[in-house]
Amino acid sequence: MRMSANAMKIQTLIDRLERERTLSDAELEELFAILAQAHKGPGAGKVQICADIPQAVCSEEEAILYAAARRVREQYYGKDVYLRGLIEFTNYCRNDCRYCGIRRSNKKAERYRLTKDQILDCCRQGYNLGFRTFVLQGGEDLSYTDAAICDIVSSIRALYPDCAITLSIGEKSRESYKAYKDAGADRYLLRQETSSPAHYRYLHPEELTIENRKRCLSDLKELGYQVGCGIMVGSPGQTLANVIEDLRYMQDFGPHMIGVGPFIPHKDTPFKDEAPGTLTDTLHLLAVIRLMIPGVLLPATTALGTIHPVGRELGLLAGANVIMPNLSPVNVRGKYLLYDGKICTGDEAASCRHCMDLRIARAGYKTAMVRGDCAGFAVND
Ligand code: 5AD
Ligand code: FES
Repeated sequence: MRMSANAMKIQTLIDRLERERTLSDAELEELFAILAQAHKGPGAGKVQICADIPQAVCSEEEAILYAAARRVREQYYGKDVYLRGLIEFTNYCRNDCRYCGIRRSNKKAERYRLTKDQILDCCRQGYNLGFRTFVLQGGEDLSYTDAAICDIVSSIRALYPDCAITLSIGEKSRESYKAYKDAGADRYLLRQETSSPAHYRYLHPEELTIENRKRCLSDLKELGYQVGCGIMVGSPGQTLANVIEDLRYMQDFGPHMIGVGPFIPHKDTPFKDEAPGTLTDTLHLLAVIRLMIPGVLLPATTALGTIHPVGRELGLLAGANVIMPNLSPVNVRGKYLLYDGKICTGDEAASCRHCMDLRIARAGYKTAMVRGDCAGFAVND
């Protein structure tokens, strides 16, 4: 097949990115610009990249990028997709991030907390469904003291020694992180949201700083956690230069996981009238991350599934290898709303589990019910 000039250009850039894992800022800008332009191009040149998903259609240029990302992903993880059971255990939060639906000044949010027994119930149900990673996520809710968190973590550790325990509970002191690790936590998710100080300032209240966020991430890594960072795509004020700065920061930091999903406005936040991030921009970034940081765990996020009916499947086809279905009790699910329109808020854990199997298979991958550690990370049990 004859390649267009742009496709040849993309092929050259992608070959180098795959081989050398980096490009200059100007080349990255060019890459993203050509991809965005190609996406808007005429239907005639479009390529179907997955026979079983009719919506999996993209430009020739994007197909080159996604094929490279899948090739690299398969070198590290084969066809396996890891599932994580997400337990959203509190939506109280002391922070006031301008994008987030559970920010403290959203008086309309219906708040809830799960007890330790409720959390353990979720784990039991999840374990029986085959999950071998539990992710405890919540707002920064100081009513769970460090002792309470350690108690929950060590109970899960004792009951399910073959499972990984991931925490996602925000900024804490190094001592707290150490205590959770000693109690049995393996992994920690904390997105930097943006590495640019000015952009960080725009998204967050005064009391949060990018310096402290990065300090947390460095502490977590030094303490031996598998660490996840990440950003929202298309958050208000984000520029391409910001995204490139994030790529540089992440490549330098060396995370084990990178959470990337589109920004989606929430109706009761200051960003309610802002435009959401796009599916296309998110897929381009996922694939570029896969090429720059090849062995990283890369979730196809719930936010991606929210902005498009097969967003998560398209994420897998762009190099993602993790999906995080919800294990929270159905009666609280509709309350953990960081953004509008969140999917799966009415579904039982078992039905999401089954649904994900089908979706993963349709994308040509297979669910692997294992801990799913980061490739190359030595786990000492
Ligand atoms: N849209 C998309 N993602 C959001 N998050 C928070 N609010 C939103 C939103 N409005 C993301 C943040 C956070 C993660 C748990 O959810 O990146 O780190
Ligand atoms: Fe929840 Fe499909 S993953 S219903």
